[in-house]
This record gives sequence, structure tokens and C-alpha cells, in this order.
Amino acid sequence: MRKQEFFGMARDEAVALLAAAPVVRLAGVGERGQPVLRSLHAVVIDGWLYFHAAPVGEKSEAVGREAVIAADEAIATIPSHVFDPERACPATTYYLSAQAHGTLHAVDEPALKARVLQVLMEKHQPEGGYAPITADDPRYRGAVKGIAIVGMPLTQVDGKAKLGQNRGPDDLGKVLRFLWARGEPGDPRAVDLVRAANPDVPTPEFLSAPAGARLQCALGPADLPAAVELLAGEYWNVDVPRDRIAVGQSRSSAWVGARDEAGRLIATGRALGDGARWAYLLDIAVASSWRGRGLGKALVRLLLDHPQVRGCRHVGLRTRDAQSFYRGFGFRDGVESKSAEMVLQR
Ligand SMILES: CC(C)(COP(=O)(O)OP(=O)(O)OC[C@H]1O[C@@H](n2cnc3c(N)ncnc32)[C@H](O)[C@@H]1OP(=O)(O)O)[C@@H](O)C(=O)NCCC(=O)NCCS
Repeated sequence: MRKQEFFGMARDEAVALLAAAPVVRLAGVGERGQPVLRSLHAVVIDGWLYFHAAPVGEKSEAVGREAVIAADEAIATIPSHVFDPERACPATTYYLSAQAHGTLHAVDEPALKARVLQVLMEKHQPEGGYAPITADDPRYRGAVKGIAIVGMPLTQVDGKAKLGQNRGPDDLGKVLRFLWARGEPGDPRAVDLVRAANPDVPTPEFLSAPAGARLQCALGPADLPAAVELLAGEYWNVDVPRDRIAVGQSRSSAWVGARDEAGRLIATGRALGDGARWAYLLDIAVASSWRGRGLGKALVRLLLDHPQVRGCRHVGLRTRDAQSFYRGFGFRDGVESKSAEMVLQR
């Protein structure tokens, strides 16, 4: 296998990266043959990537010619000393990147132009607060006519996920332990991505879990529906609307979980923590069919070891009936203190 082939990304993933990127970059050629490089807001609709442009200008000049549109995401820097105490050579960066090659086409049909603009709005202003864009709405008719919309068919798309696939299991074990110990903001997610890209790497000690379950260091937006499903019926959430449960999950400083072998979310737990002094554990739940097998214990161990929690001297939580579960981690009932706890209920 050539080294490059280690890092190939599935076409769907490459398209998803282009579609999700807040900004993509266009490299094309202008009318005088000059190179054109632009940052764009783009959307993907029905196998095409679209962006808008002024009717006159270098972006529009590139229409009718070959171009490349790219997006990338830095995942983690991996310092040389992870692999070698002396030589700088192994220093690297893990990243995702995707490129689409093709000819740029002008879109003339007003209905499609309006649809592209509407999808751009949904991507960049998801909260709404505007009338939906349609080509025959008098508020938009002129704007839709006046703006240039450019599309590229996503027929030639490739991507690269450089996540350590060229390294053996021992080195990858070092990478995973290093990322977890370093604990910079993107590092828990990097642990999950490196493991997913290298499924044969043995589970490191800090991620050990009961057979059939796989701990996750950083759940994300795609996990929200399943996490809300696990949490919505629990006693402390009975009065909490589902959308507020979701917001709480996604804005936590730590959000860990576990999946079964089919990839379904079977446990979730989160914490608010400053990484140094105070942390609070919240919304810890294991799917009922998985309870009593040690998964809750593995999940809470991971949460207490999370970079935003592990250095905290005070870790709090509230529970109605799981005191003995948490005592196993060293939690004690109500700590004696010179000052009293106060609560503002809203
Ligand atoms: C509490 C919960 C997270 C524990 O997860 P779990 O996977 O069932 O727990 P484990 O199998 O890892 O159990 C670890 C130990 O805690 C004990 N334990 C589990 N649930 C307990 C509970 N609710 N109360 C007291 N002890 C409990 C187990 O008996 C086990 O003891 P052992 O190590 O001596 O055998 C899970 O039962 C759950 O999701 N419950 C509903 C939601 C909930 O109450 N969450 C906690 C809110 S603060």
C-alpha cells in the first residue's frame, strides 16, 4: 500500500466536510489567466456545491473554467516527543481535508438561485428571523435576479483524513494517551477520531469499558437526539423541555458517552468544569438494557478524568438515590463548610 492510501476519506465524508465547513476556499482562473483564490460561504444541494458572487468580479470570471474547492479542519498537533525524545522529525498535525475538482457553472434559474440563498441562510442563520427566500417574493425578486449564483457538480471529490493511520498500535497508544493527558480543547474529540480511524488499536486503559461498549471522550451535535432520548425520562428532567436538555448537553465543558457495537449511544454524562478548581457532574445515564454491567462506573471514571474535570479540587453532583454508586468514586454526603450553599432557582 502506498503511504498516501492510508489516509483516504470516503466520498460521502468528503462531501459532508465541504457541506459543513463554515468557509471553503475556491482556487480558479480569471479572464486573463490569472490565479484566483477566494474564501466562500458554500452549500451542498443535490450533489452540487453552490456559492454566491457579485455579477462582476474575479469569482464570476472563474465561471466556465476548471476550479478546485477545498475545506479542511485541523484536528490536533502531535509533537515529536510523543514518538522520539530527541529528533524533531516525527512532529505532525492530524487533519481532515476535502477537495472538489470541476467546472464552475452559472446558475440562471431564479427558483434554484433562491433555493441556494435560502439554504445558505439556514446554514449561517439557523435561528431564522427572516422571511424565507423565494424567487417570486417581491421582497427578494430583485436581489435574486441581481446576484450571481455559481455551482460545481460534485463528481470529482476526494478527501484525506490524516489521523495516524501510518503508525502501529504502540505508537497510536502513545498518541491517544498524550492527547488525553494534554487535554487542549479539541483533544478529547481527537482521541475519538484517531480511534475511529484506527479500529485495530487496543483500547487504552483510560477508555476501558465493559465488553461490547466503547467509551467516547467527546460527544457532538450528531449525538444530541440519542442523548436527549436517554435523558428525557429521568426524574431530574421531567419538567425540562427536550430542546433545553439538548442545549445543556452541547454547551457543557465535558460531554462523554458510550456506544454499542452497532454505534448506538448507550450512555451519556456531562460536566461543567473549569479544569482547575470547580466541576459539577450532570445528566449521567446509562441505557436501561446496559445497567448493572459496569458501564456507569466506566463512564463516571472517564468524566472525572476529563481534562476539564480532573484538576478540580471540588467536584459536585446531586442525586436522589445513587449515593452508594458515587461513594465508590470518593464522593461524600454534604461537605462540612464554613459557608452555606445558596441556590437561585429560575
Ligand atoms: C446510576 C447509573 C448511571 C449507574 O450505571 P450502571 O451502568 O448501571 O452502573 P454500574 O453497573 O457501573 O454499577 C457500578 C456500581 O454501582 C452500583 N449502582 C448502580 N446503580 C446504582 C444506583 N442507582 N444506586 C446505587 N448503586 C448503584 C452497582 O450495584 C455497582 O456496584 P458494584 O461495583 O458493587 O457491583 C444507571 O443505573 C442509570 O443510568 N440510572 C438511571 C439514571 C440515574 O439515576 N443517573 C444518576 C443520576 S445522579
